[in-house]
Amino acid sequence: MSSTPSRSVAIIGAGVIGLSWAHLARDHGWSVTITDPAPQLEEWVTSEFGSDDALVSWTADLAEAVTGVDLVQENGPERLEIKQTIFAEVLAHAPADAVLATSSSSIASSLIAEGLEDGTRLLVGHPFNPPALMPLVEVVPGTDTAPATVERAIALYRELDRVPVVVRKEMPGHVANRLQTALSREAQYLVEDGVVGVADLDAILQNSLGLRWSTIGLFEGNVLGGGVGGARHLFEGVGAETGRIALGAPSTDPDVRERLVTDIEAEYGVGEEAYDRLVEKRRVRTEAVLEALADVEADS
Ligand SMILES: NC(=O)c1ccc[n+]([C@@H]2O[C@H](COP(=O)([O-])OP(=O)(O)OC[C@H]3O[C@@H](n4cnc5c(N)ncnc54)[C@H](O)[C@@H]3O)[C@@H](O)[C@H]2O)c1
Repeated sequence: MSSTPSRSVAIIGAGVIGLSWAHLARDHGWSVTITDPAPQLEEWVTSEFGSDDALVSWTADLAEAVTGVDLVQENGPERLEIKQTIFAEVLAHAPADAVLATSSSSIASSLIAEGLEDGTRLLVGHPFNPPALMPLVEVVPGTDTAPATVERAIALYRELDRVPVVVRKEMPGHVANRLQTALSREAQYLVEDGVVGVADLDAILQNSLGLRWSTIGLFEGNVLGGGVGGARHLFEGVGAETGRIALGAPSTDPDVRERLVTDIEAEYGVGEEAYDRLVEKRRVRTEAVLEALADVEADS
């Protein structure tokens, strides 16, 4: 491997998302500095990367972590005031041309920028969990974000083999999580109402929409659903009928919610063993799908 890293990134917050970004960047030959005020920082980093990885370092000092980097990727707690405090310090110490990104799932960068002197280099770079596996990064500029920052963020995420997609308007949950929420609400309703069990709901999803959407898009599928008449035919025919179906909503009754959680835990387990098992299952299967799709792309 080259002794000079191509790029450098500061990973702020060594939780689920921060450590996964760190793996991605490190595996692409980037120099990675991880910072987190938690006293377990060293333990967390060394248990993931060992203690003598030439590309990975850690420090509790945020200013030191962001000095000289190309990209700051913030993954701290989902609290506006914490993110504002973090980015105020980042602005004071990161290079003038660094992209300053928050992984936030729900906080707009315009809100974070309200507490800052300069919001032109700040944006949301929202990964889908886990960032090391899932290609998507939703790039969401705020009202102050400079167009050049968006372009630079896109270029940096592409260097990490991610698929950055610009979201044109700030919305809670951006796009992917809003879609997930819509589907999850109906799934919870259907199980709570006794229409289908937890495992069967997942079997239905994995053997229909999940498989379809890993190969072609939703609107692309609409074209096929309408035959040679395409999406217009689908929307006017079958789609007009299914579009009239009244959807349900998850129960607000704590007993009903408890039964749902108990059913999910009975099916998949809970705790460290279950977590590790499911993380590994997800990794193996996701990599297999991505590799198969890359082979198809290469052959076409
Ligand atoms: N978990 C997900 O599925 C997911 C997906 C995409 C984006 N996100 C976003 O990523 C961010 C992190 O989420 P997570 O699930 O990794 O959370 P997490 O709780 O696993 O990790 C948060 C980390 O931030 C650290 N921290 C606390 N105060 C800090 C400070 N002042 N400065 C720096 N670090 C601090 C904590 O010690 C912890 O290690 C959030 O903004 C979240 O919205 C989460």
